[in-house]
Amino acid sequence: MNITIISSSTRQGRVSHRIALALERGIVRLGHEVQIIDLLALKLPQFTERFSHLDDQPDAWRDTLDLLLASDGMIFLTPEYNGSFSSALKNFIDVFAKQGFQGKPIAVATGSSGAMGGIRAAYQLQQVILSVSAYPQPQMLTVGKMQDRIDEKGEIIDEDFGVRLEKYLVAFLAFSAKFAQGE
Ligand SMILES: Cc1cc2nc3c(=O)[nH]c(=O)nc-3n(C[C@H](O)[C@H](O)[C@H](O)COP(=O)(O)O)c2cc1C
Repeated sequence: MNITIISSSTRQGRVSHRIALALERGIVRLGHEVQIIDLLALKLPQFTERFSHLDDQPDAWRDTLDLLLASDGMIFLTPEYNGSFSSALKNFIDVFAKQGFQGKPIAVATGSSGAMGGIRAAYQLQQVILSVSAYPQPQMLTVGKMQDRIDEKGEIIDEDFGVRLEKYLVAFLAFSAKFAQGE
């Protein structure tokens, strides 16, 4: 399968992007294709209109939409900011909804520097996934103290967390496979 991870911290010195790198490694290890859409690199301007409604559609955005449409499943990864998910991710969802997401299986992954792992952001994001006519995976990955779990290259440095990440990915790939097979 072909999986797309949306990494949505655009903050200087961000840490949650490590989760994207660890997920990417895990998906490759499990024998699937994966790419990361990094919202720091994409530099979407603040929402003015949905991509599908724009007269002038930038090529880079078209490429991004094509990646979304070609995905068998997506992972929305976000840090928790002020009790919710990142505004960069909401902006991205608003620009490409619903065209880019409808009917797709989408899993949530969140991270925080504290112990709670962004659970409030995770639950809110599941609701938003329903709003774009996509299917949220029941299991979420919440990563507390993410700086102690994964190094800067995406290498897992906490064995228990590694087991949790693997279980999450196995569940997500099985969930996505049901959609790919049209079940
Ligand atoms: C604007 C802002 C708001 C934050 N709000 C929360 C919060 O609501 N809950 C939490 O657990 N951590 C919060 N934090 C701490 C983040 O978990 C921590 O900074 C983390 O590294 C953010 O992810 P990032 O480095 O990928 O941007 C906040 C940090 C920032 C910068």
